[in-house]
Amino acid sequence: MTESILSAKHVSKVFVTRGDGAVFAGTTRFTAVDDVSFEVPRGKTLGIVGESGSGKSTTARIVAKLIDPTEGTLEFEGDDVTKPSGRALAAFRSNVQVVFQDPFSSLNPRHTVEKIISAPLDYQGITPKQGKRALVRELLERVGLNADHAQRYPGQFSGGQAQRIGIARALAVSPKLVICDEAVSALDVSVQARVINLLNELQAELGLSYVFIAHDLAVVRQIADTVAVMSKGRIVEQGDRDAIFGHPQHEYTKTLLAAVPQINPEWELERVRMLAAEGAVE
Ligand SMILES: Nc1ncnc2c1ncn2[C@@H]1O[C@H](COP(=O)(O)OP(=O)(O)OP(=O)(O)O)[C@@H](O)[C@H]1O
Ligand SMILES: [Mg+2]
Repeated sequence: MTESILSAKHVSKVFVTRGDGAVFAGTTRFTAVDDVSFEVPRGKTLGIVGESGSGKSTTARIVAKLIDPTEGTLEFEGDDVTKPSGRALAAFRSNVQVVFQDPFSSLNPRHTVEKIISAPLDYQGITPKQGKRALVRELLERVGLNADHAQRYPGQFSGGQAQRIGIARALAVSPKLVICDEAVSALDVSVQARVINLLNELQAELGLSYVFIAHDLAVVRQIADTVAVMSKGRIVEQGDRDAIFGHPQHEYTKTLLAAVPQINPEWELERVRMLAAEGAVE
C-alpha cells in the first residue's frame, strides 16, 4: 500500500446560518460535508469530482485548514493536525498550499508578480537562502514564465499565465501538498492541458502531492491517480483512477461519466493549431 501524506477520517462540516429575524428568526443547519474519509497518497494526486454544491470546496478548505471541521480528524504525515496551533500550524501552512479557481481574482491587480509570489514568504517570515528576488526568478522559470517579467502586474498576463503565477506563489514556501480547487476550470481546453502538464512535471520534479478538485471528469482523468466522487456532501465512490473510470460502481459516477463529451483528439489538435496560427495560444 502506498504511504499517505494526508488522511481525513470521518470529516463533516455543518454550516449554521441565522435567519434574518423578520421572516425566519431561527437558525438552519446545513451539512455541506458528511462523514468523508480519504487518503492522499504521497507524491501522487487525489482527484475529487462532483457536481456543483457537492462539498468539494468545503472539503478543500478543511484540508487546507482555512476552516475547521465540525467532526472528524485530519492527519498530515502521521501527525494529528485537526486542531494545531502555534508552531505546528505555521509548519502546516508552509507544507500545504492552495491554488484557487479564478487566477485574476486571486491575484491582487495592484501588486507586482514579485510581490504576489513572495507574499507567502513574508506572511510566514521566511527568508530564502538565495534571497527573495532570486527565488522569484527561479519560480517564474519553473512554471514556464519569463523571469524578467517579475515587475509586471497580473493584468499584463493571459489567463493561463496568471494561473502559472498562482502556482508559483503556492510553491514559494516549498510545500509538500498542493490543493488545486478548480485550478484549471476557468481556462480554455488547450490552456488547461498545458497547465495540467506543468502540474504533472512539477510533481515529478519536486515529489509534490496534490488534491485536485474539478467538476469536469475529463480534466481529473488527466491528472489523478486516485479519485473520490462526491455527491451531496458524501463520497459515494473512491478508488484507483482506472477502476473508477473503467468500472464505475455507483449510479452517480455512471451518470457523471455519461455526461463527459467525447472529444475527438484530431479536432482538438486542429483547434490548437488554428489558435497558434492566430497567435492566440499563451
Ligand atoms: N460558509 C457557508 N455557509 C453556509 N453554507 C455554505 C458555506 N459554504 C458552502 N456552503 C454550502 O455548502 C454546499 C457545498 O458547497 P461547496 O462550495 O463545498 O461545493 P462545491 O462542490 O465546491 O461546488 P462548486 O462545484 O460549485 O464549486 C453548498 O450548498 C453551499 O451553498
Ligand atoms: Mg467549489
